[in-house]
Amino acid sequence: MQSAVGIITTKRDGGELSDAQIDWVIDAFTRGEVADEQMAALAMAVVWRGMTRRETARWTAAMIGSGQRMDFTDLPRPTVDKHSTGGVGDKITLPLAPLVAACGAAVPQLSGRGLGHTGGTLDKLESIPGWRAELPVARMREILADPKIGAVVCAAGADLAPADKRLYALRDVTGTVESIPLIASSIMSKKIAEGTGALVLDVKVGRGAFMKEFAAARELATAMVELGADAGVRTVALLTDMNTPLGRTAGNALEVAESLEVLSGGGPADVVELTLALAREMLAQAGIRDVDPADALADGRAMDHWRSMIAAQGGDPDAPLPRAAHTETVPAPSTGTLTRLDALDIGLAAWRLGAGRARQGDPVQWGAGIEMHAKPGDPVTAGRPLLTLHTDTPAAIPAALEDLHAAYTIGTPGEFAPTPLLLDRVEP
Ligand code: URA
Repeated sequence: MQSAVGIITTKRDGGELSDAQIDWVIDAFTRGEVADEQMAALAMAVVWRGMTRRETARWTAAMIGSGQRMDFTDLPRPTVDKHSTGGVGDKITLPLAPLVAACGAAVPQLSGRGLGHTGGTLDKLESIPGWRAELPVARMREILADPKIGAVVCAAGADLAPADKRLYALRDVTGTVESIPLIASSIMSKKIAEGTGALVLDVKVGRGAFMKEFAAARELATAMVELGADAGVRTVALLTDMNTPLGRTAGNALEVAESLEVLSGGGPADVVELTLALAREMLAQAGIRDVDPADALADGRAMDHWRSMIAAQGGDPDAPLPRAAHTETVPAPSTGTLTRLDALDIGLAAWRLGAGRARQGDPVQWGAGIEMHAKPGDPVTAGRPLLTLHTDTPAAIPAALEDLHAAYTIGTPGEFAPTPLLLDRVEP
C-alpha cells in the first residue's frame, strides 16, 4: 500500500524511489488523490536530492502514461521534431519545420505559448491572420502524410502528458522548476508522447536562457538525450548560445516577418546558421541522407511548404502581418562597434512592450517587440537607430527603455570578441 507521505520522506532522506512508488504517485496526483501540497513537497525533495537515471526514466514514463502517446509510425515518411529550451528571438521552428518537411521528413510539433521573457512558437504563428493552433489528431495525421505539407505546429491537447501539465503549473508557483531531472522529464514526456520517431534538442545556454551555465546546460542535455534513448526516440542535442538574441527581432509578428526573409533565401546569418545546423541534425536522425537543406531554402521549396503549412491551419500566408500602433527608436549613444547585446534585457523589454505574457492565459500583442538594427560586431554610428520598440501600449515604453538601459555596449572593434553560436553536441 503506497502513501504520499512515505514517498515524500523517502526522497527527503535521500532514498531512491521504486518503480511502483513513482507509478503510484504520478497516477494518484493526476487523479487528485495526492494533494498539490504533497506533490509540491515531493518536487522540493527532488530539487534537493535529485533522481537517478532509472528514477527519471520511470517518472517520465509515468507522466507519458498519464495521457495518450500518439503514434505516427504508419506514416509513409520518417517523423522528426525539434525542441528548444527557449530563448529570445528564437523563431527557428518557423523556417525549420517547413524546411525539414521539404527535405522529405514529417515534422509533428506540439508546441507551447510563451511565458515570461521567452517567446512561444504558437504566439508567433497566431499573429498570422486566420492561423489556428488547435487541430484534431486526425487532421494532424492528414497534414503530416501530405507530401506538399508534411509539417504541423499545433497546441498540445489536454490528453498529452496531463500529469506534467498539473505538475509544471505547481512547480511554477512553488520554486521547484530548477531541477534537471524534473525539467528533463517534463520536456521529454511531452516530446515522447507526441509520437515523433526522432528528436533534436536545442539547449540554450546563457543570459537569455533557462540554463545560464554551460555545465548545467550540458547536464540537462545529457539527461534528455538519455530519456529519449530509453524511450526509443533517437535524440541528439545541440548546445547553442543565448547570451545574444537570435536574429534581429524579438516579438511575435516581427519574428514571423524575419522567418519569411529566411524562407526567401535571406535573413540574419545567425538564424540561417542555426536553422541549417538543426535541419541537418534532424534529417540525419530521420535517416534522410544526400539532401542539403541549404538547397531547399535557396530554391523556394521550404517557402512552398511554409505556405501550405500555414494555409492547412487556416492562415493566410499572403495577409499583411499585424503592426504595433506605436514605435520608439533608441539611437546609438556613440560611434564604434557594438560589442554586446544582452538577450535577457531585450527579452524583458519585448515582454514589457506586450510581446509576452505575465500569466498563463493573458493576451499578447501581435505587433509588439524589438527590432535590433545592429548585432555584436556591427559598426554603429552616434544618433543612428540602434533599437526600435514596437507596442500598442505606449505607457509601457518608459519601463522598456529602463530594461534596455544596460542592454548593450559600444566599444572599439578590438574589444569585440566573437563567440560561436554552436557550442556543443550531445548524443547517446
Ligand atoms: N519547459 C517545460 O516544459 N518543463 C520544464 O520543466 C521547464 C521548461
